[in-house]
Amino acid sequence: MTTIRRFCCNDLLRFASVNFDHLTETFNMSFYMTYLARWPDYFHVAEAPGNRVMGYIMGKVEGQGESWHGHVTAVTVAPEYRRQQLAKKLMNLLEDISDKIDKGYFVDLFVRASNTPAIKMYEKLGYVIYRRVLRYYSGEEDGLDMRKALSRDVEKKSIVPLKRPITPDELEYD
Ligand SMILES: CC(C)(COP(=O)(O)OP(=O)(O)OC[C@H]1O[C@@H](n2cnc3c(N)ncnc32)[C@H](O)[C@@H]1OP(=O)(O)O)[C@@H](O)C(=O)NCCC(=O)NCCS
Repeated sequence: MTTIRRFCCNDLLRFASVNFDHLTETFNMSFYMTYLARWPDYFHVAEAPGNRVMGYIMGKVEGQGESWHGHVTAVTVAPEYRRQQLAKKLMNLLEDISDKIDKGYFVDLFVRASNTPAIKMYEKLGYVIYRRVLRYYSGEEDGLDMRKALSRDVEKKSIVPLKRPITPDELEYD
């Protein structure tokens, strides 16, 4: 049985096995603590029986006016628990909070242009490539900024793709 619950401080000491994955970024402790303190609704963990961490999602809500949106900072599932719809459930939870509680216009995320499995998953969940960010990852690999419109964006204006790639210094948010 899988339990999905809010992430808490102690989980930071238990999620190392999930973060071993080379596509999963590990941040410093203060980064995680800031997310826990400011956006607790956007930070959830999935646990297996015996309290093993299966995966987690962390994100935030940010922006102004029609750019007010939910953002997925990290979503990851341990290799042994993949293809069981776990990431989909975590993503749906974050989207629901952005849509119904925070009333955002869209949800967005960045993904490495080479991370085909994740891109396929996001597309399956209804995300589109909004724009390419040149050398977003460590000044080397391009990132794709993917978006999904929420119910508040009735005309789906937030997901009309940009015609040209941008550079990291043109990004509105960190
Ligand atoms: C990407 C990742 C989070 C997917 O987690 P998951 O729990 O296996 O995904 P789900 O089971 O919820 O997948 C939902 C759908 O997405 C698509 N999908 C997921 N993984 C896929 C893959 N490897 N190849 C193709 N499609 C995939 C499928 O359509 C899947 O539905 P299906 O299994 O019924 O066909 C996981 O592979 C992972 O943690 N990768 C490493 C970290 C990472 O890349 N995170 C994203 C960084 S932006």
